[in-house]
Amino acid sequence: MEFYSNSPEDTENLAKKIASLLQGNEVVALYGDLGAGKTAFTRGFADFFGLKDEVSSPTFSLVNEYEGSKVKIYHFDMYRVSTLEDLESTGFFDYIGKGIFIVEWSENIEKHLPSNAINIRFQKTSENSRIINVRGIDLK
Ligand SMILES: Nc1ncnc2c1ncn2[C@@H]1O[C@H](COP(=O)(O)OP(=O)(O)O)[C@@H](O)[C@H]1O
Ligand SMILES: [Mg+2]
Repeated sequence: MEFYSNSPEDTENLAKKIASLLQGNEVVALYGDLGAGKTAFTRGFADFFGLKDEVSSPTFSLVNEYEGSKVKIYHFDMYRVSTLEDLESTGFFDYIGKGIFIVEWSENIEKHLPSNAINIRFQKTSENSRIINVRGIDLK
């Protein structure tokens, strides 16, 4: 499904909608260039679980763990991850299934994503507009 976002708030609202449909162990894989809106999406996503203010880009730590109202959220940034060893060092394989994963720069680890991952692709079409393509979840 394709969505058109015209503001960071639109993107956050789509994230909240998706967050509201999850059980607690899903992998949400985000794709798109720098500035496309992956962290904005994650902020809206975390806000649904009562965590808005905690979200920052985990580029340096590779993963941030948030304790939500009901679930744990593992926020990964795979920008600097290129080998299996790198990926292992993030804890990806240790935490999988133990919380919701939200993964920036999923391009870099695509072959290690589970087949039931929810895939969200961001395309910047102008300063404030994004096309957001969502696959792997029924949004109705
Ligand atoms: N429709 C939109 N959706 C998301 N972000 C937007 C939108 N329009 C403008 N922006 C801006 O674009 C930037 C997106 O940055 P960020 O979410 O950090 O991107 P990424 O994590 O993909 O590198 C933010 O400065 C945000 O305010
Ligand atoms: Mg980011």
